[in-house]
Amino acid sequence: MTRYFTEDSSVESVNARMGGDTDPRLAEIMACLVEHLHAFAKETHLTQAEWGLAVDFLTRTGQICSGERQEFILLSDVLGLSMLVDAVNNRRPPGATENTVLGPFHVENAPVRQMGDCISLDGKGESCLFEGRVIDPDGRPIKGASIDVWSDNEDGFYDVQQPGIQPKWNNRGIFITGDDGRYAFVGIKPVSYPIPDDGPVGKLLGKLGRHPYRPAHMHYMVKARGHQDLVTHTFVGGDPYLESDAVFGVKSTLVAPYDKRADADTIWRSPFDFVLVPQAA
Ligand code: BEZ
Ligand code: FE
Repeated sequence: MTRYFTEDSSVESVNARMGGDTDPRLAEIMACLVEHLHAFAKETHLTQAEWGLAVDFLTRTGQICSGERQEFILLSDVLGLSMLVDAVNNRRPPGATENTVLGPFHVENAPVRQMGDCISLDGKGESCLFEGRVIDPDGRPIKGASIDVWSDNEDGFYDVQQPGIQPKWNNRGIFITGDDGRYAFVGIKPVSYPIPDDGPVGKLLGKLGRHPYRPAHMHYMVKARGHQDLVTHTFVGGDPYLESDAVFGVKSTLVAPYDKRADADTIWRSPFDFVLVPQAA
């Protein structure tokens, strides 16, 4: 092999520079990244103008990031990378509830509410009773599980997107299961909404002929001692965006029933059981 960089030896040239003291995992990741990046440039015959456009795109992606906005994670989401990393790191046995993306709108330390409480504080939307059990793979109820829930409001916005317009903690709350593992709360039937699409990622979606919508969903983070954490959503069956979620978060097992109720306190009822995997499994 020549000591100098050539098209044929490009990968070896770069990876041979890695120092002997490099952290082994960093070395593994960077060597693989260089290999795939060079293969990509060769396979597509990337022009210098295209390379420049990509640099400009990444620059604009960084420039729009702030404490409230993470455009790089959004880029990862629309490329399917967030869901792939989630899948690789959360392989579960059949029957266990599947994970999906956390998304940018979770807020730590939501109010702990009483079982059956209503989380919708703005009086908008179609009321829905969400109920079910937190159980282990053998169907045994899990006591003391914490269920952190959050959703958008009827207008398709999370409270943190509309400070001063929505009440703080609107459509959020934490519920703790008792001996029977049951949970119940009243929220609204969520609505589909667009991911933030006024930045470079939104422009890219437009150029690719893709819409920015997510199908309607309720977010859940379920934790119980001795069990793997579960970060997931339940999706509203029949939503027109189920098969074209902008961030690829839908799994068939997470599509929940929404039953219309007659003569009840809420318009809808959505039952769903969460099956947690024991930690050692
Ligand atoms: C969400 O569901 O809240 C979400 C997920 C990924 C990107 C944007 C929003
Ligand atoms: Fe969401």
